[in-house]
Amino acid sequence: MAIEIKRVGVIGCGLMGSGIAQTCAQSGYETIVHEVNQELLDKGLGRIYGAWDMLVGKQKLSEAQAQEARGRLRSTLNLEDFRDCDLVIEVIVENMEKKLQLFPHLDRILRPEALIATNTSSLTITEMAASTNRQDRIAGLHFFNPAPVMKLVEVVRTIATSDETVETLKSFARSLGKTPVVAKDRAGFIVNFLLIPYMLAAVRMYEQGFATMEDIDTSMKLGCGYPMGPFELLDYVGLDTTLYAAEAIYEEFKDPIYAPPPLLKRMVLLRRFGKKNGRGFYNMSEL
Ligand code: CAA
Ligand code: NAD
Repeated sequence: MAIEIKRVGVIGCGLMGSGIAQTCAQSGYETIVHEVNQELLDKGLGRIYGAWDMLVGKQKLSEAQAQEARGRLRSTLNLEDFRDCDLVIEVIVENMEKKLQLFPHLDRILRPEALIATNTSSLTITEMAASTNRQDRIAGLHFFNPAPVMKLVEVVRTIATSDETVETLKSFARSLGKTPVVAKDRAGFIVNFLLIPYMLAAVRMYEQGFATMEDIDTSMKLGCGYPMGPFELLDYVGLDTTLYAAEAIYEEFKDPIYAPPPLLKRMVLLRRFGKKNGRGFYNMSEL
């Protein structure tokens, strides 16, 4: 039962959900986005509208295109409003318990042919699929931050995901102007399996006094041509998200390169999440 994707639901309108909803609405999809309360919904929508204003200002989008995209984007606090979606992308916090509460609920609401994708960075998608009665229609659709800009999407298949679901999600990613790659459901997929240990190694270097944060960042930018140094990237991605992803990959492989360094854990305990709340390795309010 192939499905044509016209209506997309995005659950969670934080850092990634807002970028994914923006991208879907801009690419012509009827898009509906959900948050846990009105304040967070308004904040996320504010980011999306701000991005469209910025793109109009830079003449990358016409006023009419921005209006059309706005017209395609709806928001809700009620998951029942997702019942007509062909594809729902889950973009809530990186917490398996919360994802496992959401998946069976979505499974009951959606039509049987609809697909559910998760943007998880590292959690086991098979576990999410197992909590539903549509295991063949569940996969990872992993966008990169900032979602409207980064060109890659990892399509992550479990052993239960059908070929049809994989092909539909690859076509969907292409329709958003992205390049899809396919990965198996192993914690970290492709990018985070390589990127997370790099960021953790930078924290360990700093903790052990090899160099200052600024010099480590400058080294990777000027020495390797990376657009951001590891500490800038940690602040950008979110220290909380990085910690949860590292813990999940460590849990799967027990390889010490994925063990979160003590400093990262303590930064998260102090709610220094990075750019999203203005305090991370760098104090962004002072930047
Ligand atoms: N919508 C559309 N376009 C946007 C946008 C948005 N919301 N936000 C920014 N842009 C565009 C800007 O218009 C700009 O375009 P032009 O250059 O054509 O004017 C372009 O994006 C770059 O934006 P800026 O000029 O504001 O910023 P920059 O040049 O400093 O680049 C960056 C910012 C793209 C983030 C760059 O620093 C970068 O690539 N950093 C690395 C990001 C990265 O590694 N991401 C992956 C993180 S890991 C991950 O996501 C996985 C995980 O699971 C944790
Ligand atoms: P975030 O904390 O910025 O946003 C998560 C949002 O989900 C919050 O606004 C929260 O209120 C909302 N939420 C929580 N429970 C919810 C529920 N039951 N229903 C609806 N909304 C709910 O986090 P983020 O950085 O956007 O990450 C979201 C997901 O994307 C995570 O799985 C993360 O691992 C993944 N991811 C993050 C990045 C990144 O660079 N930050 C990159 C790729 C993937």
